Amino acid sequence: MCGIVGYIGKKQAAPILLEGLTKLEYRGYDSAGVAVLGENGKVQMAKAQGKLEVLKNKIDGGKALKGTCGIGHTRWATHGVPNETNAHPHCNDGMTIVAVHNGIIENYAELKAKLIRRGYTFYSETDTEVATKLVDYYYNKYNDPMLAISNFALRVRGSYALAVLFSDYPAQIYAIRKDSPMVIGVTDNECFIASDVPALLKYTKSVYYIENYQIAHLKEGCAAFYNIDREKIELPLTEITWDAKAAEKDGYEHYMLKEIHEQPAVVRNTVNYLLHDGYIDFSELKLSDNVLEEISGITIAGCGSAYHAGVVMQYVIEDLARIPVRVELASEYRYRNPVTSGKELVILISQSGETADTIAALREAKDRGLKTLAIVNVLGSTIAREADFVLYTKAGPEISVATTKAYSAQLVAGYLIAIKLAEVRKTVTAQYAEKLKTELGLLPEKIQKILCDQIAIQQFGAETMNKKDVFFIGRGIDYAVSIEGSLKLKEISYIHSEAYAAGELKHGTISLIEDGTLVFGVLTQDKLIEKTVSNLVETSSRKAQLAAIASEGVKLPEDCKNVFTIPCTDVHFTASLAVIPLQLYAYYLCVAKGNNVDKPRNLAKSVTVE
Ligand code: G6P
Repeated sequence: MCGIVGYIGKKQAAPILLEGLTKLEYRGYDSAGVAVLGENGKVQMAKAQGKLEVLKNKIDGGKALKGTCGIGHTRWATHGVPNETNAHPHCNDGMTIVAVHNGIIENYAELKAKLIRRGYTFYSETDTEVATKLVDYYYNKYNDPMLAISNFALRVRGSYALAVLFSDYPAQIYAIRKDSPMVIGVTDNECFIASDVPALLKYTKSVYYIENYQIAHLKEGCAAFYNIDREKIELPLTEITWDAKAAEKDGYEHYMLKEIHEQPAVVRNTVNYLLHDGYIDFSELKLSDNVLEEISGITIAGCGSAYHAGVVMQYVIEDLARIPVRVELASEYRYRNPVTSGKELVILISQSGETADTIAALREAKDRGLKTLAIVNVLGSTIAREADFVLYTKAGPEISVATTKAYSAQLVAGYLIAIKLAEVRKTVTAQYAEKLKTELGLLPEKIQKILCDQIAIQQFGAETMNKKDVFFIGRGIDYAVSIEGSLKLKEISYIHSEAYAAGELKHGTISLIEDGTLVFGVLTQDKLIEKTVSNLVETSSRKAQLAAIASEGVKLPEDCKNVFTIPCTDVHFTASLAVIPLQLYAYYLCVAKGNNVDKPRNLAKSVTVE
């Protein structure tokens, strides 16, 4: 969590830092701060509690701080409450060393005690102040920024992306990372640091990804890299293909609405990336048919919506490719000591490619000698770099904390894997495989159709904004999409919501149904519709209000007055359509409540700590 930025060049740094932080606010938004190094080597710093807007107003959009080199931070509190004192940047006593940090210093208490013994005092509750003063300690000892940083790295445990200004070295930034993302952007006469690519897109698409324990030393237009032994290393320059406009709101009121509307294109782009003239081509993934033939099973791991996409994939892959699939929360898999035959493929799903638990699950799988396939959206992210095979979803930058288009892209990535497996393992006929591929190509226009007809769901969102509890029920893939619909709703509306496999309702949950409780049924799985309808009726007999997301032609009980129909598609792909009204419902209900759609309370988009 947290976003860090840095700039060094010819322009005034503070407005650029604030602009970068705006793009990273999805990573944390309880406080923010910037520090700028003036030409005289004097550090000017400003911090504010609350949204970035408060900081922007405080420093007149950045004009109040003069200097062409600086660092900035937007915080998601870990150590210490969100207030101005705990906000970053943090500094040493003389304000000659200033740092911003994303991550957690796990042994900060021990290091703090050591520094206190050496006479240091602390003004905040943060681990970052400890990190900064540890750098200060080593700088005083060795009088060399690089030695200070490398010794810092040797002493701390945990994760960090750390950027440091030394007033003895004006117009320079030092940075290091371990297990927290950091990307370095360059132009002819500028260098940038950011936690994520969208913060840089407006200025450059040429970036370096630094690895764990590598140090970046940035000067005007010159980025040099070193290993922990301070030996110079060369890193490859990567060109980002994302368009800067893709990270703007583009006339939409919120990023979430924009991203919902981008889904037809995102699905089309992800399908077109791998499906060429009726052939699913995994050569770019370097995933050969041999590997797909030889695996004995699949484990899928992810967090949040990525996990939910995995639940859909489990149904689809097992049904089409007849191979056992287990889907796991990455945070559980990493500590679970799973039994493996050594021949499973482990699929890691992650939009950001930086989720700490998913990275740990990937490393756990690799340690067990298993092959790993990442379904990732962000080019060059940690998971993409470390997995054996990478399937990039073509969602473009996703800014809203509540994911929509990345989830949709993950689903189609899963369908492509399922069909490819089924073809290689000969578990479906060639005709059916063709039919599935044709149907995949039709999904974008079917999604578009739902988006063009959203007035009813918009009204229903507003009408039901005061509900206390909302349940989503379904069976099979309808259950899998229900858990995503429920998550979307609770993330941004703060209404209590649960998703239940409809058959499980009677084993406890039905006791929660009261007069007026809203129960959504998801009804797209031909063979299961009647059963879920019966379960819906059981709740309406207990005075629940019914609503349904149903494929065209599904017959619903009379007291189900709020029905949102979706076009028909192959039963394996219905989640891609059913999720759209569920996203729209959560979005419009949230808007009606006046909540902050793109930055819901307590959440961050990229969860880079455990
Ligand atoms: C956070 C986000 C979710 C996301 C999850 C996994 O909780 O708010 O939207 O699904 O992290 O993130 P990833 O980047 O790994 O897909």
